[in-house]
Amino acid sequence: MLRGRRVVLGVSGGIAAYKAIEVCRRLVDAGAFVSPVLTPDSLHFVTTQTFSALASEPARTSLWDSPEPSPHTALGQRADLVVVAPATARVLAAYAMGMSDDLLVATLLATRAPVIVCPAMHTEMWEQPAVQANVALLRERGVTVVDPVAGMLAGGDVGVGRLAEPADIVAACDRVLGGGDLAGLRVLVTAGGTREPIDPVRYIGNRSSGKQGHALADEAAARGAEVTLVTSAGRPAAPGVEVVSVETAAQMEAAVAARSDDADVIVMAAAVADFRPKAVADDKLKKGDGVPEVVLEPTPDILAGLGARKRPGQTLVGFAAETSDVVANAAEKVRRKNLDLIVANDVSAPGVGFEHDTNAVVLLREDGSREDVPLADKRAVARAVLDAVLDLRSQATR
Ligand code: CTP
Repeated sequence: MLRGRRVVLGVSGGIAAYKAIEVCRRLVDAGAFVSPVLTPDSLHFVTTQTFSALASEPARTSLWDSPEPSPHTALGQRADLVVVAPATARVLAAYAMGMSDDLLVATLLATRAPVIVCPAMHTEMWEQPAVQANVALLRERGVTVVDPVAGMLAGGDVGVGRLAEPADIVAACDRVLGGGDLAGLRVLVTAGGTREPIDPVRYIGNRSSGKQGHALADEAAARGAEVTLVTSAGRPAAPGVEVVSVETAAQMEAAVAARSDDADVIVMAAAVADFRPKAVADDKLKKGDGVPEVVLEPTPDILAGLGARKRPGQTLVGFAAETSDVVANAAEKVRRKNLDLIVANDVSAPGVGFEHDTNAVVLLREDGSREDVPLADKRAVARAVLDAVLDLRSQATR
């Protein structure tokens, strides 16, 4: 969707300006016509020459040194999208207040194109009520905010405030322009292992890290889908993914039930507990009271419920974590739970499944056909799963 689109890339004066060089290159690689606008402060960190060399036209830095009589209106009117990366507290404030004190803010005020701001600053600044209020105001007005992430900041500090990754910023641009092969699809993904409480401090859990489910959600969002992620994993998700945090199977079931009717694709990657304690003690169980007997009861099978009420046009994907007879067990689940596709893995194999960054899976379809995805990082496995989903959906409409 970026191909042939005119993108104004605003760069303001923070150390993360160096990452804007990568954003610029990626936008150009994706086929966009990129016009860089650098604030005077950004020139302490990067040069106009760098952007002029990489972008589609020379970088601009001022309202006054351009051959055009009105560079801000020319840029603003021609743009299909304006993206500011990094956006400093000053630029956010000036834009929110309508103060056109440099070419970048003047362009932001002169455009009717969608705008994306990608804030980056120290944690203390990012958490300032004044900054948060400006960001909230911009969001209210329809500006897309690609939130900063946690990590190493300038000067060796660690915290929230780091500019989002260039790939995620470019994915947000693509999404805002309506691009990606999953554009227009609503995708619901579950991730993580549920925790079933025994008492206020103890629970029954499993080894799932949520990495595969999160990779699926991030990949679907990067490909233009509208993504909701119901997760118990407490991990960050890519910008644009709606995150619903849950803990127990019952909470996951309720969160999924509230959103499943609207979903075109549902991927149940979560490791939902099959059993939970029948009674949860109100107070912490004390050692002195002897060894407790925990009586278990089955949890609702969320996936089977979704299969039973699957609507036409909905694609339902399950996971099967097995330790033996992987394909036979997974094939049985496809039938029993009325799935379109199951992602089966042998979690006893090295580098596969729970907690690893890599996975190796077999994709089994409802028609019995299979595809082996050899050991790869979980994002690559996510890509293969979503390719299979698209293929299934295109077959269904043939
Ligand atoms: N699942 C679910 N609700 C549950 C248990 C599992 O929705 N209470 C989903 C998982 O998210 C996964 C799939 O079902 O997508 C496979 O789960 P699994 O526990 O392997 O399947 P079971 O039917 O419980 O089979 P078994 O215990 O025989 O392995």
